[in-house]
Amino acid sequence: MPPAHRISIFPGAQAVARELAARIAHSLRKKPALVLGLPTGRTPLLLYAELARLAAAGAVDFSAATTFNLDEFYGISPSHRGSYRSFMQRYLFDHVNIDGDRVQFLDGSAASAADEGCRYEKAIDEAGGIDLQILGIGSNGHIGFNEPAAALEARTHLVTLKPETRRSNAELFGGDPEAVPTQALSMGMATILDARSIVLVATGERKAACVEKLVTGSISTQLPASFLQLHGDVDIILDEAAASKLTL
Ligand code: PGA
Repeated sequence: MPPAHRISIFPGAQAVARELAARIAHSLRKKPALVLGLPTGRTPLLLYAELARLAAAGAVDFSAATTFNLDEFYGISPSHRGSYRSFMQRYLFDHVNIDGDRVQFLDGSAASAADEGCRYEKAIDEAGGIDLQILGIGSNGHIGFNEPAAALEARTHLVTLKPETRRSNAELFGGDPEAVPTQALSMGMATILDARSIVLVATGERKAACVEKLVTGSISTQLPASFLQLHGDVDIILDEAAASKLTL
């Protein structure tokens, strides 16, 4: 039986961002105290720009919302310019009416990564769980910092970053891959699968192969995104390039 993903395909990345921003605005209208899980990366930049545009037009209200980001570099402070906390401030939080006290983040400067992981899991529980988790996908099928591996950790944990992942984050660290921290904290796949609904967004030809495998392949720790097949409420929003290897 094919997995129960709902797949929507739009002509380009801008149309994908408009659709996803409209869905988030709609979810916030239905439940103002929405608990949102958010990603970083290049893909959500258009989404965050679109949400900023809606906020400026008074068309989206984050005032009662809570957010949890998926992951953060370990060994740098939240205020470091390269941190994902700073990324989110720059691209989204500075532009919407979210209450800073309801922005939840993994603390990359925590003394104990294990304690920080437990704290984050508890904070998600105390917020009532994540209602809507937005996800990007790495071209190798990673979700958050859950990289392809022989085994995956279920819950929020410390990750050693692969050289290619450090390279792809170099831009945040002045273009120098060596300046990218070697470790990160990430929600685990079980943390992610606990969200009540999930929207995965992928754009560009670079994502076409892993999108195809995610939709039609078997579940494997070598493709962490394939675990989304275990979830009953997943929307996949693609542009035509990311959908180009799907036969629907
Ligand atoms: P990208 O990253 O949006 O920069 O392609 C996605 C991801 O790694 O999750």
